[in-house]
Amino acid sequence: SMMREISGINETEEKLKQALGLEDVVVVQGDSDKEPWVKNELGRACAVRMKAALTGNNIIAVTGGSTMAAVADVLTPDISAKRQLLFVPARGGIGEDVANQANTICAKMAERTGGKHRVLYVPDQVSPEVYKSVVNEPSIKEVLTLIKQADIVLHGIGEAMTMAERRKTGKEEMEKIIRGHAVGEAFGYYFNEQGEIVHKVRTIGLQLEDLHRIRHVFAVAGGASKAKAIKAYMNTKPESTVLITDEGAAKQILAWR
Ligand code: BG6
Repeated sequence: SMMREISGINETEEKLKQALGLEDVVVVQGDSDKEPWVKNELGRACAVRMKAALTGNNIIAVTGGSTMAAVADVLTPDISAKRQLLFVPARGGIGEDVANQANTICAKMAERTGGKHRVLYVPDQVSPEVYKSVVNEPSIKEVLTLIKQADIVLHGIGEAMTMAERRKTGKEEMEKIIRGHAVGEAFGYYFNEQGEIVHKVRTIGLQLEDLHRIRHVFAVAGGASKAKAIKAYMNTKPESTVLITDEGAAKQILAWR
């Protein structure tokens, strides 16, 4: 639109696409670090893209976080008109505040779109023993099967130390994250600037390698404070990922070139 051209957003999107080697990016105005309403704009942009990706009966896997919570807040029933949407948490709960847990967010998304949802009551960190028994639990197995069938993924990206602290990460793992110079986090994986995995939270559900099979992946993250994290994650070369971000993050990433 006219407004977008005048504000130079289209140009920023083009530059960011090139800088990150992505096929598609959306940049919304503002910086979500400074103005909270920008998160809702990220949410709205995500909703528009998600709607365009819907084909009929879709399974949508969703991570936790305040950005995903903002996406849930702006969904409306018209998104799912004549469609069957099923929202599933992408991974076991990550010890987040209830409002920011994937279970809560999925429930809200289903409520707001007239769709369905499933819950995954599994802790963030699971020991290898618990992992083995839990994945064979019928109710959990059912949700895991649905996650594997997801054709749309909506996820956040976090700044590494912010996420490690938010998850009350133990001393040993914290040291691993620091020693590995982690700057970004997504799906419980921590990345250094090159996009190499330096630590991984062991939980059940969607794994990074599963993303390659999923048709539509939307990464939603904004704010200048997440610029490094976004750049690092995009270095993992997530082929089909559409990045939905804001000017705050975009301008910082472009300033480093
Ligand atoms: C968490 C996800 O719930 O939210 C993380 O498990 C993600 O993978 C994080 O990085 C993002 O949170 P926020 O609040 O910055 O959107």
